[in-house]
Amino acid sequence: MNSSEFLRFLRARSSVREYVGEPLDQGDIDYILACAQTAPSAGNREAWDVVVVTDEDLRMELAVAALEQTHIRDAAAVFAVCANYVRSMSRYGERGILYAVQDATIACTYMMLAVHARGLHSCWTGTFNEGDVRDILHLPTHIRPIALLAVGKGQPPLVRTGRMPVEEHVHREVW
Ligand SMILES: Cc1cc2nc3c(=O)[nH]c(=O)nc-3n(C[C@H](O)[C@H](O)[C@H](O)COP(=O)(O)O)c2cc1C
Repeated sequence: MNSSEFLRFLRARSSVREYVGEPLDQGDIDYILACAQTAPSAGNREAWDVVVVTDEDLRMELAVAALEQTHIRDAAAVFAVCANYVRSMSRYGERGILYAVQDATIACTYMMLAVHARGLHSCWTGTFNEGDVRDILHLPTHIRPIALLAVGKGQPPLVRTGRMPVEEHVHREVW
């Protein structure tokens, strides 16, 4: 893939909230996890973990915890990507909290792009009741859920979301 193809690949991804109910193959799940494993992390501590949820009852519970977002219920799987504070804080102390969140976020980004490369769809979901997600997934106290990535075969939106001009983000040399 050359650089133009890479940009086209990125531009072709959309968040998908309508799913057709097809299950994921184990090969898809393994591929997504293999891609996540390549993500960089602070000090290579890999301070992220993921709970792969395919069980329908658990997805329904997670959808309720995600303030009734039905794509969490309808997707074939939900990848609950978590920061592992102990793995990062054991080296970096307080700063490790920030690193663990970044490690989890970039791992989730790699998963999202892996899903896209596989011809599947996803929706990054950050709106959820953290305590409820903790309870549903039996997360230990040092594990913080960062994002629920809904994954499946879906119906992409007809119109892509827009973006502000990149120059509005960019400051040169100093702010
Ligand atoms: C941190 C974060 C939190 C998000 N939370 C939600 C969410 O709770 N529900 C949802 O439907 N989409 C959520 N999204 C998806 C965004 O709405 C979406 O990425 C944005 O509108 C741009 O659209 P696109 O992904 O189709 O390019 C979230 C995305 C990010 C990065």
